[in-house]
Order: sequence, then structure tokens, then C-alpha cells
Amino acid sequence: MEKTYVNLAMMDWADQWPSSLALSNSNPEPFSLDELSEITGEDWHHLPLEHMDYQSAAGDLTLRSAMVDHLYPNHSADDLIACAGAQEALYVAFNALLKPGDHVVTFTPAFEPLLMMPKMLGARITTLPLTPENNWQIDFEVLTAALQDDAQLLVINFPHNPTGSHIDESTLNRIMELCQEHGVKLISDEVFRGLESSPSQRLPAAASLSQQAISIGVLSKAFALPACRVGWILCQDQALRKKMITIKNHLSICISGLDANCMKRLLPHSESLLKRSVDIIETNRSHLKQWLSTQGRMQSTAGTASATCFVQMPEAQTFCRKLADEKGLLLVPGHGFATDLSGFRLALGYRAFSDHMKSWSTFLT
Ligand SMILES: Cc1ncc(COP(=O)(O)O)c(C=O)c1O
Repeated sequence: MEKTYVNLAMMDWADQWPSSLALSNSNPEPFSLDELSEITGEDWHHLPLEHMDYQSAAGDLTLRSAMVDHLYPNHSADDLIACAGAQEALYVAFNALLKPGDHVVTFTPAFEPLLMMPKMLGARITTLPLTPENNWQIDFEVLTAALQDDAQLLVINFPHNPTGSHIDESTLNRIMELCQEHGVKLISDEVFRGLESSPSQRLPAAASLSQQAISIGVLSKAFALPACRVGWILCQDQALRKKMITIKNHLSICISGLDANCMKRLLPHSESLLKRSVDIIETNRSHLKQWLSTQGRMQSTAGTASATCFVQMPEAQTFCRKLADEKGLLLVPGHGFATDLSGFRLALGYRAFSDHMKSWSTFLT
């Protein structure tokens, strides 16, 4: 079989302006060492190191036990695999689940690797559009028809990148029931879980609902800690988990022990870490809403979770290119998220949001 390599349009776009200021980041503002010291009560400028050895391939038991205690209380540590970021977690999961010719169903706009990784593995991809007219929600008639077409895998990502939309628990249950009915596995990318406007919107991990589902998490997004390259896979199916550990042994082998050390110290403070970013995002979301109401060229269907939204405007790509060329400000337009919708992803998780918005919004006039 011929190998397929696919470029990521988002990377190709960003590479054109390597020293620009990124205004489309999907992670909230990374924590400073001072902030972490304040939240945890430990001095993060002089953190004691534990040991400098390899970790086990799935992640050391002490780390996985702390993860289930603080993030997934209904699970055993044996349901987790710690990975080098969510990116590796996704790569491992897709490799374990897919073979060439398999049919994968997912949605657009999308975090591109969710489509591109299956494509590189030779899968056939069906993308179903989420639309602003439908408040970025799933059309179940269309989804059912796609799954009936001999689908092996459904991929979802809620809270959603780039729109910030979310689903409710009954929708998640309906998705799970459909997957069970049609014998379809589910990868649920939950890297923004915890960044909901209100805690009542937080969903159970899909992997807690069924053996057929895998949940993906990471420190870089909801926890705003991209320097710690720890992502994870939650999966109850032990045979599948074993296969994924074997694949991981061919990649990073194990996560960094230094990152594991940091993560163990942070896990007891998970809710404080999440709340700090939700507060920033909600303030910025209301600034944006207010500003959008004053002008007619741009609009955004309000999200309720995650750290980004999708702002629609005519000729967005031209606007983004001009902004990067002339002002050194980088916004990623729709094609970076596998959609033809004209718009761009806007980061909501940074404290300087209002100042940045002044710069790009005055450029409009
Ligand atoms: C939806 C989604 N999943 C996975 C990832 C990968 O996370 P990481 O880069 O921390 O591995 C990202 C990164 O932007 C993302 O937006």
C-alpha cells in the first residue's frame, strides 16, 4: 500500500509568519511559576525532583492512581495510559483501532489531526458539517446514515475546537447508544473537558459510559500547562489497552518523569487550575460579545466551553493574511480547521485579550 502523508493546513499557515503574535491558540494562557506556587502552596521555582529514570510505558502506577483519584473516580488506574501529549494519545488510539479501508466518521470544523491521522492510516473519512445555523450541534439523521454505511469509528470532540460549542449529557448518551447499535467504536477527544462556563455542563468521560469508547485528555488545554507534555487515554477495554501500550512502546516509550513529577503535584489542585482559566475565558467572552454587538461585519455563535470561538466574517482569509503581513498578528482562518466557512479561530484564554482585540479590530476599519 502506498503511504499517504498529509500536511496540516494550520501549520502551513502559521509557518508563514514564524515571529508573529499568535491570537488563535487553543490553550488558555499557560500558568506562570508564580501562579502555580500560589495555587499549590509549593515553591515552583525550586521544585524537588523525584527520580531521573524511565517511567513504565503506561505511566507509573503512582501517577495513574492520582489521575483516577482526581479526574476519573469511577475508574481503576489500569484504565489509563499516560502519553506524550494528546497528539501521541490520538496517534496511538487511531493506530490501534484502524486498518486501511476502514470508514471513519467525524465532524467539521475540526482540529485537523482528527481527520488527518485516520487518512494517513488509509481510512475512508466522512466529515459531517456542524453549522452555526444549528448552533454547531449534531444532526442525528445525517450521523445515523453515515454510521450505517459500514463505519468502524466515530470521532467527536466536545467541548469543541474551534467553535467552543458543547453537547449535553442526553446527546452524549444518544451518541453512545448509536455507536452500540451499529457496532462502532468511539474516540472522544475531551481535551477541553473542565473549561465549561458552568460546572453543571461537565460531561462524564465517554470511556466511563462504555467499553466501546476511548477518552483523550491532556494537560496542555483545559489545565493550561503545555510545558508538561502529558496526555492520556482512558479505556476500559483491557485487550485494546494492551494493544495501545504496545504501539506506544514504538513511540515515546514513556512520558517524561519530570512531567510526571509536576503532574502529581498539580492533580490535587485540578479544580483551582480549571477555574482560573474559566474565569479568564468568561470575561473575554463577554467582552467579545459586547464588541460584536456594535458592528456588523463579524459574528460568532456563542460557545459555552473550551478556550476558543469561531468568528465568522466575509473574506476571512484575506483579512487574516493582511493582519499577519502588516501587523504581525496571527489568526488562523477556517481552512485550518477543515471547513469552507469563512471565519477564524479566536483565542479566549489570554489575559491580554482586550488589548489584542483593540489591535485587530481597529485594523478592520
Ligand atoms: C482537540 C484537540 N485534541 C488534541 C490536541 C493535541 O494536544 P497536544 O498538542 O497538547 O498534544 C489539540 C491541540 O490543539 C486539540 O485542540
